[in-house]
Amino acid sequence: MTVINKLFINQFRNLNNQLIKPGKNINLFIADNAQGKTNLIEAIYYLGHNRSFKTKIIKELINIDNDNFQLNAITDTHKIKLEKYRKKTIININQQRLKNTSELAQILPIQIITPDKGFIVNGTPKNKRSYLDWGVFHVKPTISSYFKNYNKTLKNINLLLLSNKVQELNFWFLEIAKISAKINQARVDYTNQLKKIHSNEILPLLSELFNSVKIFDYQLKSGWPKEVNASDYQSIYQYLTQNKTFLLKTKYLNYGPHKANIKFFLNSKEEFFLSRGQQKTLSIVFWLTQILILVKSGTNPIVLIDDISSELDEKKIKIILHYLNTLNVQIFMTNINPNLPLNKDGNTNIFHINKGVITPL
Ligand SMILES: Nc1ncnc2c1ncn2[C@@H]1O[C@H](COP(=O)(O)OP(=O)(O)OP(=O)(O)O)[C@@H](O)[C@H]1O
Ligand SMILES: [Mg+2]
Repeated sequence: MTVINKLFINQFRNLNNQLIKPGKNINLFIADNAQGKTNLIEAIYYLGHNRSFKTKIIKELINIDNDNFQLNAITDTHKIKLEKYRKKTIININQQRLKNTSELAQILPIQIITPDKGFIVNGTPKNKRSYLDWGVFHVKPTISSYFKNYNKTLKNINLLLLSNKVQELNFWFLEIAKISAKINQARVDYTNQLKKIHSNEILPLLSELFNSVKIFDYQLKSGWPKEVNASDYQSIYQYLTQNKTFLLKTKYLNYGPHKANIKFFLNSKEEFFLSRGQQKTLSIVFWLTQILILVKSGTNPIVLIDDISSELDEKKIKIILHYLNTLNVQIFMTNINPNLPLNKDGNTNIFHINKGVITPL
């Protein structure tokens, strides 16, 4: 179980010199608008990802009167120190300089539930891939080098297509075919794992949330045309070589894992027919399924939920918090309203945020 025992935030947006000692279960942060709730969630997310879910621009994250920010966390096993300047990042884990940030995600696995990142059900394909690959990475960390190589290879191919360098294409087609097949197989395995857990353990939760038995299903689309067997590199390679002339005309590769998608269904109805409330609830059910897979593998990620009551009604909050309590994960959540239906069965630590100052209640 990953637990942050101490968290220090300095010069990150409106949070200056804030040290908190969170509890092992639910940590609830209550504040009015514009006090620092989302900033706190963003800071914790940043520590686990070395990036924000809100912006790519570092300047926006650094406190307006300063030129750097620092985030430190002490977990049960690691001391994490992240320092960021506009053009420089220093990350130390147990006093050792960290080179590969994908290691950070393993040390501090974080699942986030927030409208700022967008809901997965009826979300954009990019957002869907981001949640999917987060899960794939955590069950199979070796996949991260395939993702990196994939992006490089894709860039190469697009350059060759643009500059009409026909001779070199076959070599890179074979390369991308091999990487694509690995990525697709990892995504298929992961989706099958999700479905299995879903039908065994998430179904009761789903019927509680919807007051009736519903079938929530999802389908992975590989990003390749139907005739391609996306887990077989020879099939991909054959498709690419046979369509070379066409690709040279379009000048870029519009197929592959970077175009993958997941389609969601509730009782066979496609996601875009569902109500906004149904989409939200199903997104949360999907995220809970992802958390459950990790819990089963012994990882227990930290769960961040921003503005919980703007997303869910009281009854649903109760069901979800009760469920999270049974999973044994550390939760950081924020809310405007102090009257949340908290369960008596979990340990809850409540904090207030006032103009960027966090105080335990
Ligand atoms: N780089 C920065 N430097 C200083 N202050 C900042 C910076 N970026 C954002 N802020 C301020 O931080 C404050 C808190 O923002 P935050 O988004 O955390 O509010 P919130 O509590 O989540 O509010 P809401 O309930 O409206 O979602 C805002 O007033 C914002 O202007
Ligand atoms: Mg907010």
